[in-house]
Amino acid sequence: MFEDAELFIRSSGESSEVVTKQMYDFRDKGDRHIALKPEGTAPAIRAYLEHSLGQQAQVTRLWYFTPIFRFERPQKGRYRQSHQAGIELIGSSHPNADAEVIEFTVDFYRTLGLTDAQVRLNSIGRTETRARFGEAILAHMAGWLADQDEDGKARALKNPMRLLDSKDPKIQEAIAGLAPITSFLDDESKARFEKLQELLTEAGVEFILDPAIVRGLDYYTETVYEVQSPSLGAQSALSGGGRYDNLIAELGGPATPAVGFAAGLERALIVMDALGVQAGASGIDAFLVGANSESQLHLRKIARALRAAGFSVSFDLDERDVKRQLKAADRMAARFALIFGHEEVASGHVAFKQLSSGEQIDVPEAHLISTLRKRLVE
Ligand code: HAM
Repeated sequence: MFEDAELFIRSSGESSEVVTKQMYDFRDKGDRHIALKPEGTAPAIRAYLEHSLGQQAQVTRLWYFTPIFRFERPQKGRYRQSHQAGIELIGSSHPNADAEVIEFTVDFYRTLGLTDAQVRLNSIGRTETRARFGEAILAHMAGWLADQDEDGKARALKNPMRLLDSKDPKIQEAIAGLAPITSFLDDESKARFEKLQELLTEAGVEFILDPAIVRGLDYYTETVYEVQSPSLGAQSALSGGGRYDNLIAELGGPATPAVGFAAGLERALIVMDALGVQAGASGIDAFLVGANSESQLHLRKIARALRAAGFSVSFDLDERDVKRQLKAADRMAARFALIFGHEEVASGHVAFKQLSSGEQIDVPEAHLISTLRKRLVE
């Protein structure tokens, strides 16, 4: 839930909005400077290094689901406590790794039924690219810079790219007309960015090239992307991510490339609501129905075996009458009702009923698992 504040200062960046304005940091009773997690990547890498996770394989794939805390002005889609689900792919610098993470992101939203999610892709190149871009920003904004006090000037000079995150209209005005960061990419970064686009196209992933995506955290290198949804309004980012090839070394580990993303769960839920997508609408595999208390006992044994075999099954805990049990099966959107009547139990059979069609067959109990497996994929 919390980490040493220094972890975020070093990774997100001293002049990032996350650190300067949003981080909940304080001193504990031992006078340690700690912070509630404002994001999940630096903590994941801290854990990766602390527990030597990289020693197990060339590539390490991690996932997390974590609360995050940011002191922001709360509004729809922007909260002081929210939740992120994220993945980090550590140990490969190949564009295949970037493609895998972006494909995963797209699949994640497809599975949720968020059909209007759009990937906006950019490359911010290497450290030198960003240094050149920083100089161009300062030159472009020289007029604005001259009017700033010493503090403002020092901040801008230290990390000019963070000026691009500002919502200050004067800064926005001064930035207008600035050449995009992509015009500062060197040949190697350009080639890898093109390769990534080829891989995504080949995978059928649609994306929009957007040179305005530079991300608000300092650790990114090369690939950056956001997934946006028009259903979100002002807070349009469903998720964000990219490559961060320098972070692990900056946090004291061996130089190790990595790429990842994190999705805001509350924002995904807002879009699901807007599109009328119901969560968990897929239902269960089977609902077991028992005719009397004897068959209920038997049914519980079968339910245990089916669950152990990996099926999602349920039954009526209150042993109500068959009509009510069948109603409950409908309500849980079960694909099949497995009915254990008097005669069936005595003869070692089950009445196997497809709820969508009403079609019912008699199945020997010994064939129940194979029949269920077969019928579920039909
Ligand atoms: P981020 O873009 O700062 O990236 O956050 C990712 C997502 O978290 C956002 O797109 C948004 O959906 C959600 N989010 C952030 N702040 C809030 C908030 N105050 N209220 C609601 N939702 C919010 C990161 O945090 C990086 N760690 C992502 C990453 C992983 N990069 C590489 N690996």
